[in-house]
Amino acid sequence: MTTPAENPLTERTRVVIVGAGPAGLLLSHLLDLEGVESVLVENRSPDYVLGRIRAGVLESSSVDLLTSVGLGERIAREGDEHRGIHLQWTHEGHGERHHLDFVDHVGRSVWIYGQTEVTKDLMAARERAGRAAYYEVADVALHDLETDRPSVTFTDAEGVSRRIEADAVAGCDGFHGPSRPAVPEGVRRTWERTYPYAWLGVLADVAPSTDELIYAWHPDGFALHSMRSATVSRLYLQVPPDEDVAQWSDARIWEALATRLGHGQDGWTLQQGPITEKSVLPMRSFVATPMRHGRLFLAGDAAHIVPPTGAKGLNLAIADVTLLARALTAWLVDGSPALADSYSDDALRRVWRCTHFSWWMTSMLHTTGDPFDEQLQLSQLRWVTSSQAGAAGLAENYAGLPIGF
Ligand code: FAD
Ligand code: PHB
Repeated sequence: MTTPAENPLTERTRVVIVGAGPAGLLLSHLLDLEGVESVLVENRSPDYVLGRIRAGVLESSSVDLLTSVGLGERIAREGDEHRGIHLQWTHEGHGERHHLDFVDHVGRSVWIYGQTEVTKDLMAARERAGRAAYYEVADVALHDLETDRPSVTFTDAEGVSRRIEADAVAGCDGFHGPSRPAVPEGVRRTWERTYPYAWLGVLADVAPSTDELIYAWHPDGFALHSMRSATVSRLYLQVPPDEDVAQWSDARIWEALATRLGHGQDGWTLQQGPITEKSVLPMRSFVATPMRHGRLFLAGDAAHIVPPTGAKGLNLAIADVTLLARALTAWLVDGSPALADSYSDDALRRVWRCTHFSWWMTSMLHTTGDPFDEQLQLSQLRWVTSSQAGAAGLAENYAGLPIGF
């Protein structure tokens, strides 16, 4: 069946959410708990969304939030709580590894629980609650955002043209979605930093060679040893921007990881195993303001991107939609617009804190080839691993500030 685009099937809801990644799915869950109806509109299939390998670290405030809304059971059972991270560097043939204990410094931990798993839990909750979602849609467009009757039009998976009218539109459609460009040019302001390197990320079927994440500075470039479970490791290497993944055979990847992570130093060994996924991730900092325009509210990657070094992308998306759900509930249920009016400023305070932290971690750990940078980085690494104040600052930011900070 097809419907002419000029005469779409029209329905009405309170909030139409564009994008069913973690931000959109969690927002629909939080609104549902407050009795606010929403409809999700996503251009990919559920399997595609679940197949994307992305973030792996949840801050304690993200875990607390997910637990408080009935989504903590599997995190508690299958997630892995980490007290901190290892920071290391290798200079003039000498390697040092230091453990930074977040719990000792700031009383908060982090959890290893993949974005894929968070998304799976959110999708299951949506299905249990019978909340509406359109997947595999096309031609998504936002309309009348400056009026009290905004709407979203699209073509559904069966080719039917549809319009959803709502009180508010939530733009949770990631960096490439149509929501951010719907804010007029003269209103929107953007801040951007690109970095002269990228990450080659691999997933490997091998038990992690470490209890907690290792962030390693090395003259050849940064390396990170992360994990997804007791049998799956997630590893990253700093590579030039636009690196062709075909240049990296499995053997070359393991060799570079062994060198940069310090295989053989102080008896530590890196276990190797079959690589099941390989991709190059660009590094970018990006913030678009305001995060509200008329009745459009932006959240997550639709409004901002951070380089992954601080493990903040997913956590920021969770914090944004927590604030947004409170704001929309106060407005649409209680008739109080104050939180909706301050949403952009409230969310941006945390966004800029995480943008700074992610930039700082990135700048401290990635080699640039500049000897002056190198000395500053080594000095910074020595400071955060030897000073209470330095360590506490890193710990406070990494383990995450309370939502609403
Ligand atoms: P997304 O997860 O991008 O979700 C947006 C959704 O909108 C998607 O499902 C998309 O299909 C949908 N969409 C897009 N266009 C449309 C449209 N026209 N109509 C309808 N729907 C649309 N963060 C970390 O902390 N650590 C990491 O290791 C890490 N690795 C990453 C690797 C990659 C390749 C990427 C891209 C990001 C990574 N991130 C990482 C960042 C983290 O994954 C994101 O911050 C997080 O996914 C943000 O969630 P979101 O829901 O805002 O956006
Ligand atoms: C990951 O496990 O994918 C991961 C962990 C920490 C980071 C980035 C990515 O800083």
